[in-house]
Amino acid sequence: MRHFVIVGVLIAVVTPLIYLGISAENVMPVQASVQSLPVDWMWNVDAAAMAFLFSLIMVPLLYSLIVFRRRKGDTSDGEHSEGNTRLEVTWTIIPLLVVSIYAYLGAYTLGETRIAAPDAMEIGVTALQWDWRFEYPEGFASNELHLPVNQQVVLRMQSLDVIHSFWVPEFRIKQDVLPGRVTEYRITPIRLGQYKVRCAEMCGASHAYMERLVIVSSRADYDTWVQEQAAVAAALLAQGGPESGRALVSQNGCLACHSVDGSPLTGPTWRGLSGATVELSDGTTVVADDAYLAESIREPVAKIVLGYQPGIMPQYGLTDAQVNDIVSYMATLK
Ligand code: CUA
Repeated sequence: MRHFVIVGVLIAVVTPLIYLGISAENVMPVQASVQSLPVDWMWNVDAAAMAFLFSLIMVPLLYSLIVFRRRKGDTSDGEHSEGNTRLEVTWTIIPLLVVSIYAYLGAYTLGETRIAAPDAMEIGVTALQWDWRFEYPEGFASNELHLPVNQQVVLRMQSLDVIHSFWVPEFRIKQDVLPGRVTEYRITPIRLGQYKVRCAEMCGASHAYMERLVIVSSRADYDTWVQEQAAVAAALLAQGGPESGRALVSQNGCLACHSVDGSPLTGPTWRGLSGATVELSDGTTVVADDAYLAESIREPVAKIVLGYQPGIMPQYGLTDAQVNDIVSYMATLK
């Protein structure tokens, strides 16, 4: 009995020390969203449980190793015992209860992070190898995710190619982005600042560089930014020609697969393409005139350039004028 009391006291002392040790590590980044609060609460419960379980196992183990060690000259066997129904029932029921409580706490916390606000704002997210694109309801797209503080946002996310995962550590929540299916990510930023979205699903060679800025600003700053972006996009599109083409290219994320500096990416480079002779995968050649370029934008699988895979480029809903603008932009890339 004396040993049980000593071990019990030691566990009661060691548990808070270990918990303090884990907490002092500060493993979590700042809390930047409403949703990070229940996640961190759950993490603290976990840390406390880890501290207790670690003590519960290590303290009796070390205590036994030291106090009940074999003395010099003692060659006798240890005491034999066989079966203890009461003990076995106890150590089955207690973990069962603990695991059930954890299942409830986990489900409850998950529910807390998914509470939908009736005035949630929608932003479209497109993930592709290896970039992010954010489509705003005001009719423009950006490579930076701007969010107003204290406003719930629901991101409707889709991938153009493989599985990616949207992850802003300061927001805590992480969500897969899939091809052919729209997934949802609900977040209410509560802290002004700049963060980074990174891809948390191994998606190919440049997975590690699939990062973009996430900027949480005041409502007024956000509104100003949106107005500026919408005005710039509208002006460029109205103007037509190469500058409009350049804007369309950046809005639609074309440069994730097509370089303008001659380096081959997932798709052929655009540098020097306009007017050049192109070898196709069926062994023929074609001159990349305006008609060929327009066809390749409209119907990416019509002619496949030698060495590239068909079926990767999506079809974009562009008007004839927009396609012409992009073709005229490509002509400037000598
Ligand atoms: Cu996209 Cu990893």
